[in-house]
Amino acid sequence: MTTPDGYRLISTDRTRAQEILHVVSFAFAFTVPQREADFVERIYPWDAARGVEVLDPSKGAPGRLAGSHSSFRFRLAVPGSRTVPCAGLSWVSVHPGHRRRGILRAMIEDHFARSLERGEPVSALYASETQIYQRFGYGLAARGAVMELARGTELRDVEGADDLIVEIDSASIERHGDTVRAVQSRLTRPGSIVEFGDEVLEDVFLDLESEREGADELRIAIVRDGDEPLAWALLNRKGKWEMSGPDGKVTVKVWASADVRATARLARVLVDVDLMSKTAIDHVALDHEILHLLKDPRAAREAVLDNLWVRILDVPAALEGRGWAADCDVSVRITDAQVPANAATWRVEARDGGAVVTRTDQPADLAMDIQELAAAYLGGTSIATLARAGLVTEHTAGAVAALSRAMTSDLAPVSNIGF
Ligand SMILES: CC(C)(COP(=O)(O)OP(=O)(O)OC[C@H]1O[C@@H](n2cnc3c(N)ncnc32)[C@H](O)[C@@H]1OP(=O)(O)O)[C@@H](O)C(=O)NCCC(=O)NCCS
Repeated sequence: MTTPDGYRLISTDRTRAQEILHVVSFAFAFTVPQREADFVERIYPWDAARGVEVLDPSKGAPGRLAGSHSSFRFRLAVPGSRTVPCAGLSWVSVHPGHRRRGILRAMIEDHFARSLERGEPVSALYASETQIYQRFGYGLAARGAVMELARGTELRDVEGADDLIVEIDSASIERHGDTVRAVQSRLTRPGSIVEFGDEVLEDVFLDLESEREGADELRIAIVRDGDEPLAWALLNRKGKWEMSGPDGKVTVKVWASADVRATARLARVLVDVDLMSKTAIDHVALDHEILHLLKDPRAAREAVLDNLWVRILDVPAALEGRGWAADCDVSVRITDAQVPANAATWRVEARDGGAVVTRTDQPADLAMDIQELAAAYLGGTSIATLARAGLVTEHTAGAVAALSRAMTSDLAPVSNIGF
């Protein structure tokens, strides 16, 4: 591992929370008032927390933290209603006084090695700037939309939706954490975070007063069928008064639904909030059923953004962990600049929804970089599209089509939870 001269990699614990916040707030350009600064202790994933500190006085004060990162550990839904252990890289920060000296590169190598030691065959992240992580083999595996609906947007009827119960409350992990866990555990859309530790919940429910920008505190809407939770949404409202009257906005920060009746019920509630003229909903899958429930498809103003970036750390474990939509038998040569064990030709024999992936010395039918395999991993980007873009090379006629069909997903991937 190449740590830049004058620095060393370390594990960080709670005693360094305020130092980490110092680095993170410098890197991400924000300031948290002292009264709220203890939030890091709650939401930081301490079991995977790492940093780089100064060793050599020529680089700064010895012992001072120059960079930090950690990863949320969860199970990620992948095609075929399966899940794999995933390292959700987050909080990646290098203090501006130490930037462009190779500290990020050292932290990424360290992250890959430690994730593999923990048995996590894939890593995922949300990118602050999209060009940073591609050089490390992260591929754009899911796109998502943020959409805005006007108050009173009409939805098609869904049988049984009106029978469901809706509960609206101030958001609280104690009261609602189990509900969120229960709904998440039922999600099969690739990219969903289905099982997770307490830090993920703390992160999802984080509601710093200093970040509200005039909106009210975080609220939750839950849809139930009797006692059974089917959907949830965390939202806030920001009031605004114009000469013509109220013109407030609802912002749905995170939401999930495990049932179309609940989607319809929840959507009706979200687009009919008193004094609010519009509702913004984030993390919408590009093929989500909610889009098909709109009576007027043009009612949604949408912006499509990159959602989840995925890095395959262990090719056979990652590929065998997902489901396969069609049978295939192809050999794929993978290049990987950071994880040498992946750089090989892999025979992918997919049959009856599963796959066996083994190293082979036979000539490859296809060739691609690990970034492209990662982009296709959740089934949202096809191998055929990547080949058309010149990012996948076909050596045997028909191999692109075969692998493409096998890796596709019925549902477009998206992660509803940011981290
Ligand atoms: C992005 C950040 C972590 C980079 O840290 P760093 O220690 O300066 O990065 P390194 O010196 O290790 O650079 C590693 C490589 O990434 C490239 N890189 C770094 N920041 C980049 C950026 N913003 N855009 C594109 N490439 C970038 C470097 O050029 C270098 O490329 P090379 O090795 O091919 O020459 C740091 O600038 C930072 O904290 N930024 C603000 C917070 C942020 O965006 N964090 C990422 C969270 S998703």
